[in-house]
Amino acid sequence: QKLEMELDSIEKGGYEHFMLKEIFEQPRSILDSMRGRLELEAGHLNMGGIRAYERKFANAERILIVACGTSWHAGLVAEYLIEDLARVPVEVEYASEFRYRNPIITERDIVIAISQSGETADTLAAIDLAKSKGATIFGICNVVGSSIARATDAGAYTHAGPEIGVASTKAFTAQVTVLTLLAMIVGHQRGTLSDTKLRELMMELSNIPSKVEKALLLDAEIKQIAEIFKDSTNFLYLGRGYNFPVALEGALKLKEISYIHAEGYPAAEMKHGPIALIDENMPVVVIATKDSSYEKVVSNIQEVKARKGRIIAVVTEGDDVIPGMAEFVIEVPATSEALMPLVSVVPLQLLSYHIAVLRGCNVDQPRNLAKSVTVE
Ligand code: G6P
Repeated sequence: QKLEMELDSIEKGGYEHFMLKEIFEQPRSILDSMRGRLELEAGHLNMGGIRAYERKFANAERILIVACGTSWHAGLVAEYLIEDLARVPVEVEYASEFRYRNPIITERDIVIAISQSGETADTLAAIDLAKSKGATIFGICNVVGSSIARATDAGAYTHAGPEIGVASTKAFTAQVTVLTLLAMIVGHQRGTLSDTKLRELMMELSNIPSKVEKALLLDAEIKQIAEIFKDSTNFLYLGRGYNFPVALEGALKLKEISYIHAEGYPAAEMKHGPIALIDENMPVVVIATKDSSYEKVVSNIQEVKARKGRIIAVVTEGDDVIPGMAEFVIEVPATSEALMPLVSVVPLQLLSYHIAVLRGCNVDQPRNLAKSVTVE
């Protein structure tokens, strides 16, 4: 019994749960996912899997992304990245819906399938359908040699290492890292991303692991916020632009492990529905980092405040406006707008973790969920 307990604690690297260990591994797993790919000194990007398909990517009329769960959220971030940096139209599909609506797929399409496990049945089925229509399939998987990795024409592995916690954390940031590199490569090839801009982004991307490290220092502060909101029955998460998928992911994390109902929404869409739910009992997590939609998000915060919603804001370090408006402020390091999801998601992972622990939930193995869903 004692030996078993010791082994368990060794496996968890001294952390209480795998999920926490995996959240804290992110500076390392993000770095591992860029290793050998981001060559800062030489000033170029290298991704073995894409080399033979570089022309195809550069000439693609459209990129389709298929995935489920957290991987689908990584796909949404990729939509912003690829359209922004490479100017190729992107559509992100729930793999589980894709097959059931007679989708239009041609040989000129590139389909990117994203999956941590590489075994998700719906994603695999979406790949089969796209393949039968002649599309080129590019996989982004974490598990080497998995079914999806084998079913794709080419791909790039994330190097997050084994992820045990059912709620995906480090696999998400690894996926976003690889997708960022991909968008940069394709953008540079297509000439939509200049040498200078590429250099800048490369430099900034190389700084992400240390910024994530800094965001992790917020752990104790976030735990205190978790104490205050642990008995809430609902949560709203709001974000715009690159932070909109982060809002969805933050809400999903909370639902998955704490069983609190949470919804992620584009901040501006709030007025078309969720605003009706806001009262003094509604915690609203707003991701409000300094970016092109900052001013707009500030007015969304005012709208929430006017209805007495309790605001927990994730802001950029040094923000001197939002602290005067929000009840709680979580400061993350500044970075380029396109790279912010890698940093801004971290406090949301920690918030859901602490709330779930405080509620006595089994965070590593939440009820009704499986790490990989190999059935339809
Ligand atoms: C399950 C897991 C999620 C995961 C999703 C997709 O629902 O519980 O954490 O995001 O499957 O999994 P995949 O392995 O394809 O990324």
